[in-house]
Amino acid sequence: MYSLVRPLLFELPPQQAHALSLAFLHLLGKFSALDPESADHSVRVAGLDFRNRVGIAAGFDKNGLAPLGSQRLGVGFVEVGTVTPLPQRGNAKPRVFRIKQERALVNNLGFNGRGAKAMAARLSATRHLIHVPLGIYVGPNQQTPLERAVLDYEAAMAVLARFADYFAINVSSPNTPGLRRLQASGWAEDLLGRLVEFRNALARDIGRRIPMFVKLSPDMSESETRDLARTVMQSGCNGLIATNSTSARPVRDRRAHTRPGGLSGKPLLSQSIACVETLRSEIGWEFPIIGVGGIHDIESALRMRRAGADLLQLYTGLIYEGPGLLRILSKKLAAR
Ligand SMILES: Cc1cc2nc3c(=O)[nH]c(=O)nc-3n(C[C@H](O)[C@H](O)[C@H](O)COP(=O)(O)O)c2cc1C
Repeated sequence: MYSLVRPLLFELPPQQAHALSLAFLHLLGKFSALDPESADHSVRVAGLDFRNRVGIAAGFDKNGLAPLGSQRLGVGFVEVGTVTPLPQRGNAKPRVFRIKQERALVNNLGFNGRGAKAMAARLSATRHLIHVPLGIYVGPNQQTPLERAVLDYEAAMAVLARFADYFAINVSSPNTPGLRRLQASGWAEDLLGRLVEFRNALARDIGRRIPMFVKLSPDMSESETRDLARTVMQSGCNGLIATNSTSARPVRDRRAHTRPGGLSGKPLLSQSIACVETLRSEIGWEFPIIGVGGIHDIESALRMRRAGADLLQLYTGLIYEGPGLLRILSKKLAAR
């Protein structure tokens, strides 16, 4: 079915094709909310019960428009964001490019979105129909100086806490200037320490402690990755997400080399797997890791699992292979 739709979608500019897909999912979610499947595939990670191991990665539904539609596709968990406290336009258009031959994408969106309050309004209408864990990605507005970024994360968390099963702290987008500096040891220790305190204070208001994941860049050196992994563990956060898109250009298509932004999709796979392997060798096998980056078929999903990821996410693979891949992966992974 998707093989018929894809050529039509690929006739459109990428952002229009994305808007159309999201509108379709929004519609799909309206018909009826999906009841949870049997618990056969379910898996417990960071104290939460995931329906299966496979989800759609952050950035697909930045405003929380279609969590019910995503749920109907059979995902094990739903993710929305990255959301900033205030609405913002993001970077100049055009800002998403397909590299079709290599099943990749370059995006330079820059946290475009309607902001945390608009997301809260959306989720207040749909949250009770979401039966899988809901992860909310938070990030700072572009105009916020790095020294004050912690306040932006806190502001978004405060507005969205009652909807979130877990938060993901995005310190790794390549499209917000300076953001990745928050991954450096001094910054990360301070930021994560303060956010854990904030999360614990929120727990006194809402009656539960929301697990916090930290999403990493694939472009750090091995020693930087190890340092950050230790910092995340020691901070009291509950898991890692590896990885975001890369600033590198592991592709042949020369046009991709001149386009700004993060590269995602098949060519990212070896980098993201190497990152997960490094994390596992540093932190052992207990601490949760969500593996993301370049997953596009069952072999790549299995490689990510073997590298040590508890849960998997994909985005670019869905654009090229279609949403049916979600169910295929979750079933095949469960069968093994
Ligand atoms: C168009 C686009 C927008 C994205 N926006 C976000 C975002 O807002 N927050 C985030 O953490 N990651 C974002 N990502 C990164 C993805 O979540 C994922 O980490 C990355 O694309 C690698 O996975 P993939 O190869 O399966 O696409 C975005 C990716 C794409 C392609």
